[in-house]
Amino acid sequence: MEREKLLELAREAALQAHCPYSHFRVGAALLAGGRVYTGVNIEISSYGLTLCAERSALAAAVTAGARPITHVAVACIDAPNDAPLGGRTPCGACRQWLADLASEAVIYIDGVDGDFHIADLLPYAFGL
Ligand code: THU
Repeated sequence: MEREKLLELAREAALQAHCPYSHFRVGAALLAGGRVYTGVNIEISSYGLTLCAERSALAAAVTAGARPITHVAVACIDAPNDAPLGGRTPCGACRQWLADLASEAVIYIDGVDGDFHIADLLPYAFGL
């Protein structure tokens, strides 16, 4: 699947984000075993329980038994056009999930040129 198609699916997923507190919608679309798994950020009234889009999508893929995860697309559709890279890339917790569950995946970030691997975003990642 093409980069732009997976990013489009991530943007489409983001429309379903449940983010009544931040109003910052994020969608993720993963490719694994020829199928796409999507996730959105889900904010909970006890804020620390919020689930990010990336972890939501990773949980969906793992639940389906879909491995390996080869491509990951993330779209922060409410990021301003001039947002810095850090305003669009996965948070620290999601980077660790990606390191554990999608260590070889190509990562696409909507609005950012170039592709990443988790080793770029989380060098020397912890692992067991
Ligand atoms: N968020 C994600 O979904 N993924 C990230 O990697 C960064 C942050 C969400 C969490 C929260 O719902 C909103 O974006 C603002 O932080």
